[in-house]
Amino acid sequence: MKIAVIGTGYVGLVTGTCLAESGNDVVCVDKVVAKVEMLQAGKIPIYEPGLAELVHRNARDGRLKFTTDLPLGMAEAELVFIAVGTPQGDDGGANLEGIWAVGREIAENLTGPKTIIIKSTVPVGTNAELARRMAALTEVPFDIASNPEFLKEGAAIDDFNKPDRVVVGARRPEVIEQLQELYRPFLRTERPFLAMTPESAEMTKYVANCMLATKISFINEMANLCERYQADINEVRRGIGHDQRIGFSFLFPGVGYGGSCFPKDVRAAIHMARLAGVPSALMEAVDAVNDAQKDVLARKILEHFEGDARGKTVAIWGLAFKPRTDDIREAPALVLIDRLLAAGASIRVHDPEAIPNVKELYGDRLIYCDRPYGALEQADALAIVTEWNEFRTPDFEVMLRLLRKPVIFDGRNLYEPEQMAELGFTYQGIGLVVPEPTPLEEGYAPAASRA
Ligand SMILES: NC(=O)c1ccc[n+]([C@@H]2O[C@H](COP(=O)([O-])OP(=O)(O)OC[C@H]3O[C@@H](n4cnc5c(N)ncnc54)[C@H](O)[C@@H]3O)[C@@H](O)[C@H]2O)c1
Repeated sequence: MKIAVIGTGYVGLVTGTCLAESGNDVVCVDKVVAKVEMLQAGKIPIYEPGLAELVHRNARDGRLKFTTDLPLGMAEAELVFIAVGTPQGDDGGANLEGIWAVGREIAENLTGPKTIIIKSTVPVGTNAELARRMAALTEVPFDIASNPEFLKEGAAIDDFNKPDRVVVGARRPEVIEQLQELYRPFLRTERPFLAMTPESAEMTKYVANCMLATKISFINEMANLCERYQADINEVRRGIGHDQRIGFSFLFPGVGYGGSCFPKDVRAAIHMARLAGVPSALMEAVDAVNDAQKDVLARKILEHFEGDARGKTVAIWGLAFKPRTDDIREAPALVLIDRLLAAGASIRVHDPEAIPNVKELYGDRLIYCDRPYGALEQADALAIVTEWNEFRTPDFEVMLRLLRKPVIFDGRNLYEPEQMAELGFTYQGIGLVVPEPTPLEEGYAPAASRA
């Protein structure tokens, strides 16, 4: 099929590339000239594992093109995907300006029937409203389908290629069939294609993200409670996870959810509820619990320094909102950085992919380290914010040598508290019971004494 994808961000670029890989002719459109020029030159503006190789192959074979010219990009397309951002607006609801702008431009340039597919996450009623707005601008017939995206950054290619399900909301059976045909290669492993009304499809995305966010806030609140009562959240997790009604997935305590989806989508759901006069006490609590949880490491660290972090150096491992991405939108690490800077600490940061994005925000207020161990030099504590694989089994002896003080605040519970105590680390996790550290062996030369 001939396809245009409008908006070439984390979702649009992955969608366009994977659809090209399955044999379609795809034109990706973005309004940001620099982004399109990069892509035309074979450079990928975001980090997503496996994406670069796929983009290169499909561009080389002529199935994937990039342009800033929307009318040109959509001219031949039977299907036009809209994957522009829908960020949080001032009132907490989704800002749909990008959707309306693209809809207007599509309508003004329609020369023959097309199916427009909203892939962006949009409040219920957007499909119908876009149809109304476009119909006012053109006589040419068109269809609008809603096809929310469930991919996860960091595993986006795999998620797109092997989705748990594909959800499509459309009013005409012909449109459902058209999209079923498009997705057939991705659903070979008996994954369901779920056809429903546009309203249900739009709502499905919010309900999915609200459920996932709820799980995170729930386990974080329980972890904080465990900590105060000397219960261990890891043991409790095992205790509940074997209950088949509960399960283990997505119940890991941490530093709160971030990223470009959960925070804004939970708030957009609250906004939708408010507009409809429906109570949203649970979602409001999920959001509030998450806000507080993003502060958990800063609280622990400042308590450790007895409220005065001036002259202290803190190392941070992990800046992206999750591993395997460079995305720092609403990342918990940013909350920690702001709190530590305000408290007068020096900060040495390391992240495998997100440093350029963080540098754009903080400039020379932070010390950027290419390697994890580099960040530890002369630091009074290490804070682990993102669970990149390379942080899971570090050389603790090297860490002991580099850190000025053997202190770790682990926002992802990566290590065994007993082992850390035996090694002599002062170690804190989220909801863990931690033994007192054993005194460091003779021969240990902390960085301070070597300096
Ligand atoms: N990022 C995710 O993991 C994810 C997952 C599922 C759904 N979503 C949803 O998908 C949508 C896109 O998310 P994203 O993370 O890819 O956003 P993004 O910010 O990475 O990308 C959006 C792109 O759209 C472009 N754009 C904006 N207005 C445009 C216009 N008028 N014409 C052409 N291009 C325009 C921007 O320049 C940008 O490149 C959002 O609604 C989001 O909620 C995101």
